[in-house]
Amino acid sequence: MSNANTQTFDTEQYPFINKGLEGIVAFSTNKSFIDGQKGELIYAGYNINDLAHNVSFEEVCYLLWHEKLPTQAELDELNKELVANRALPQPVLDYIESTNSEASPMSVLRTATSMLADFDDDAEVYTDEANMRKAIKMTAQMPAIIAAFHRKREGKEIMAPLSEGSTAYNFLYMLNGEKPGEQAEKTMDLCLVLHAEHGMNASTFTARAICSTMSDIYSAITGAIGSLKGPLHGGANTAVMNMLLELDKDADINEFVSGKLARKEKIMGFGHRVYKTMDPRAVHLRSMAKGLAKEVGMEYLYEWSETILKTMKDEKNIDPNVDFFSATVYYSMGIKPDLYTTIFAMSRVSGWTAHYFEQFANNRLVRPRALYVGEKNLPISQISDR
Ligand code: CMC
Repeated sequence: MSNANTQTFDTEQYPFINKGLEGIVAFSTNKSFIDGQKGELIYAGYNINDLAHNVSFEEVCYLLWHEKLPTQAELDELNKELVANRALPQPVLDYIESTNSEASPMSVLRTATSMLADFDDDAEVYTDEANMRKAIKMTAQMPAIIAAFHRKREGKEIMAPLSEGSTAYNFLYMLNGEKPGEQAEKTMDLCLVLHAEHGMNASTFTARAICSTMSDIYSAITGAIGSLKGPLHGGANTAVMNMLLELDKDADINEFVSGKLARKEKIMGFGHRVYKTMDPRAVHLRSMAKGLAKEVGMEYLYEWSETILKTMKDEKNIDPNVDFFSATVYYSMGIKPDLYTTIFAMSRVSGWTAHYFEQFANNRLVRPRALYVGEKNLPISQISDR
């Protein structure tokens, strides 16, 4: 029925469609900045290359929420609150226990995060203090949801969260049922630092659009999780690993990539709307992937990744994004591929909630237009004649 030639609507006021909202600036923000030409990423004033290895995920949360790095006392207080809020309400645990073990972990995370609102006395309180409490709660509880679902589907005991340790440490403990070593904690913490915030990506836009209706922060984060799940966004890290796992050991990687490109298929973990050079997060993840894959005797994964990278550069001049090497990092840590996007989410909740605060403080309803290209004023026929 649609016919682009039939449109007569507002073409003077809105002369073209920005498909995918490319180049549209809808908000101002202090939370992050990306220079896509230089491959630069800034979180609230600080370069990601300086934050990586120098601050913890919890310090990044504080930075994104308060737009300054915490003092030791402020960090201690935040850590205390994060630890105190880790346990899940029993009905949420009951849901996780009873849901389909075959469900996508991102779907379970989305549903359980939404449920958290029903057991939060502050759910409909919209003060800055209440919104901050809710942001801390979700950041503390999302790792528990992910780990609980994973253990339930594996038929293992669900671990109660620890009353000590970092987000990364506690997550790995709840996931694996044993306390992680220092190196594993450091790796996970760095992954969380690298995924915390990233400009006006689809899920952050979703969170801000939901906030712009003056809806609650749980709704905003639930929507953002749904947006992150897709393979063109956060779901790409799982898709990268699935792609690597499809290859057999003596596969010709060049031929594999060229074949996909010839068929106009995407290579997951490559390309970006904003970066025109290598994503700075991928630089860190690349060296982590190299070290970890070697450590666990899976050098081939890293070598395949490097060959894919070279072929993509030679044939398409497209660089890897954050999701490409993170897949090898998580796989080398023994984490199941369908959990990778949930790890992205348990980090990005810090950025999403930071954007919620910013939108809430300076709101205008998000309400773009669509160009109607359908018919108009068609006659209504009787149902028996249709
Ligand atoms: N493999 C092959 N070709 C690609 C790829 C890719 N991964 N990415 C872009 N291209 C090509 C695309 O085919 C198009 O070529 P042509 O002009 O000849 O038709 C050109 O590059 C522009 O691509 P696009 O899809 O129009 O660009 P976009 O800005 O709309 O999409 C993207 C960006 C990230 C969705 C896309 O690069 C993609 O689908 N990548 C694979 C999925 C992925 O890794 N997503 C994670 C994104 S970064 C992390 C996050 O934010 O979650």
